Amino acid sequence: MKIESIVRKNILQLKPYTSAREDHLTGILLDANENSFGPVVNDEWNIGLNRYPDPFHNKLREELASYLSMRKENLFIGVGSDEIIDLTIRIFCEPKIDNVITLEPTYGMYKVVCDINDVSTISLPLNNNFQIDLEKVYKAITTNTKVIFICSPNNPTGNLIEPKSIMELAEKFNGIVFVDEAYIDFASQDSLIAKVGRVPNLIVTRTFSKAWGLAGVRCGFCASSKEIINLLYKIKMPYNLNKLTSEVILHALKNYEQKDKFVQAIKNERKFIKDELNSMPGITKVYPSETNYILFECENPSSVYTKLIEIGIVIRDRSSQVKNSLRVSVGTREENIKFLNGLKDILAG
Ligand SMILES: Cc1ncc(COP(=O)(O)O)c(C=O)c1O
Repeated sequence: MKIESIVRKNILQLKPYTSAREDHLTGILLDANENSFGPVVNDEWNIGLNRYPDPFHNKLREELASYLSMRKENLFIGVGSDEIIDLTIRIFCEPKIDNVITLEPTYGMYKVVCDINDVSTISLPLNNNFQIDLEKVYKAITTNTKVIFICSPNNPTGNLIEPKSIMELAEKFNGIVFVDEAYIDFASQDSLIAKVGRVPNLIVTRTFSKAWGLAGVRCGFCASSKEIINLLYKIKMPYNLNKLTSEVILHALKNYEQKDKFVQAIKNERKFIKDELNSMPGITKVYPSETNYILFECENPSSVYTKLIEIGIVIRDRSSQVKNSLRVSVGTREENIKFLNGLKDILAG
């Protein structure tokens, strides 16, 4: 398929803003109305905080590409993966005309971003195993369906979506297959980023917010075909990623072994919580998890949720998405024990 054929006309015709830092990052810089005297705070990393950042994230993309064994041209970096969800909708979906498919229960931002952009969503249920019912999807696709969102591992259910179904969709669907891999670092299967070379319409997003422990920094990225990466760079805000974020991520990439250690520790704690929940009276179901959270069921989840808050423990009530369910993020051993003890007391009444 030709990506151009599914891009909004105004985006194809758009003459993007050309920013000063696009052409020149060094020299006597008197082109962007910055403050040549310097920043009003201590520039601890000596990264030129008084200057605008590189709009194309070249250094960061090079380092990330090397870490992922990919080509820089296939990577886009955003202010969290949420920015990439929004940009994707804006590139491909004509407000009030086009639509997007979501597979429920799933991450709520896909629909919110569509609502903000006045793009309608067709919500289809995942099957009983929380996998894609391909026949249902094929039946629901209309000529105006531009994007299908797939969250794998899925939030809040915690399972991986079968890569075979995803790739079949990518090959057959004349639109964008958007795979959100925010939690892939905790999963037992590899990321699909290696597959972006195979089809032009696959976007795979990942984030530094989870395994890397950098949710406060706001950085996510996606791998895709060169055509889609160029479109993302064409329409994003000129200086979306700030220099502090870039610098932290460059340090993080050098420190990836620490991320790997965190992932192992989180997986150990996930097993600990799962075993405890499985043997706890009042817990009716514990879902398998390929993520850093666990979905479980009990009677009166809303009341359990509120009682946990009263003792200072905050989890998430997901019963509007999966009947009787609560979702708990994996914490440190101390936090997990407090949560489990609190929950046990509440369930014992
Ligand atoms: C499935 C999923 N995708 C994306 C995000 C947001 O990621 P980011 O922090 O990179 O915007 C979340 C956050 O909870 C998530 O659960």
